[in-house]
Amino acid sequence: MKLVEDRVAVVTGAASGIGRTTAKTFADHGASVVVADVDADAGAETVAEIADDGGEATFVQTDVSDPDDAKAMIETAVDEFGGIDVLYNNAAIEGPVARLDEYENDAFEQVIEVNLKGVWYGMKYGIEAMLADGGGSIISASSIGGEVAVPQYSGYGAAKAAVSHLTKYAAIEYAEDGIRANAVAPGIVRTNMIERTIEEHPEMEAQFLETEPMPGLADPQEIANAVLFLGSDLSSRVTGTTLPVEGGYLAQ
Ligand SMILES: NC(=O)c1ccc[n+]([C@@H]2O[C@H](COP(=O)([O-])OP(=O)(O)OC[C@H]3O[C@@H](n4cnc5c(N)ncnc54)[C@H](O)[C@@H]3O)[C@@H](O)[C@H]2O)c1
Repeated sequence: MKLVEDRVAVVTGAASGIGRTTAKTFADHGASVVVADVDADAGAETVAEIADDGGEATFVQTDVSDPDDAKAMIETAVDEFGGIDVLYNNAAIEGPVARLDEYENDAFEQVIEVNLKGVWYGMKYGIEAMLADGGGSIISASSIGGEVAVPQYSGYGAAKAAVSHLTKYAAIEYAEDGIRANAVAPGIVRTNMIERTIEEHPEMEAQFLETEPMPGLADPQEIANAVLFLGSDLSSRVTGTTLPVEGGYLAQ
C-alpha cells in the first residue's frame, strides 16, 4: 500500500543518512520529493537514486539556516509539484563533542543556526504554503539528546529540545488549519554523522553501541518509517508529539 500517493514532500538534509533514506521512502510510497541540502553533489545522487527506482524528485541547494534559501526551497515544491503536503525538517549538524566550558562560542552559535533556526524557517515558510493549500504534516528531527542530557552535547541537545517545543507551538497554533506538527527523536543511527564522531573519538563507538537497550545501532530506515507514519494519514490524529525511535533508551 502506498501511503503518500500523489503528495508532495520536502526533505531537508536529504543528501545523506536519515534524510536520504526518508526521501527515498516517501518516493517509494508515491510522493514527489524535493531533496534539499547544502551538498549539491550528494543531493543529486539522492535524486538519481529515486529516479532509478521509478520515483519523482528534484534537488534544490538549500542552507536551512538562511531564510531566503528556506523560502526558495518551499517555493520549489509549489512551482514544480503544485504545493506541499509534507515537510521533514531533518538537516542538522552534530557540533563539537565537548563539555560546556570547553564548547566554543562559534560552534554553539552554528549549531543553533542550523539545528534550531533552520527548523524555525522551514516551519514558517512551510506553514505559509500549507495554509494556502489545505494543510499538511510537518515532522522535525529531534533526538534523545533533546529529551535527556547526553554529556558533551549541550548545544546540540538544547537545540533539539527547542525543536520538540517548537513542534508543540506549531501543532497548537495550526490545529484548526489541517496542519499537524510532530517530531522524531532517534537514538543512535548509523549514518555519516555518527561515523564522523567515531572517527574523531574512537572511544565513543563502544559507548554508542551500548546506548540503546535494543542491541546495535538503528538503521536509517527505522527512522524513515516513523517519519512516513507521521507524514501519512495513518497518524491523522497525532499532533504536537515527539516520537522516540531509540530502542527503549528513554524508557529507562
Ligand atoms: N545519526 C544519529 O544517530 C542521530 C540521532 C538522533 C538524531 N539525529 C538527527 O537526524 C537528522 C539526520 O541526521 P543524520 O545522522 O542523517 O546526519 P548526516 O550528517 O548523515 O546528514 C545530515 C545532512 O544534512 C545536511 N546539512 C547540514 N547542514 C545543513 C544546512 N545548513 N542546510 C541544509 N542541509 C544541511 C548535510 O549536508 C547532510 O546531507 C539530524 O537532525 C540529526 O540531528 C541523528
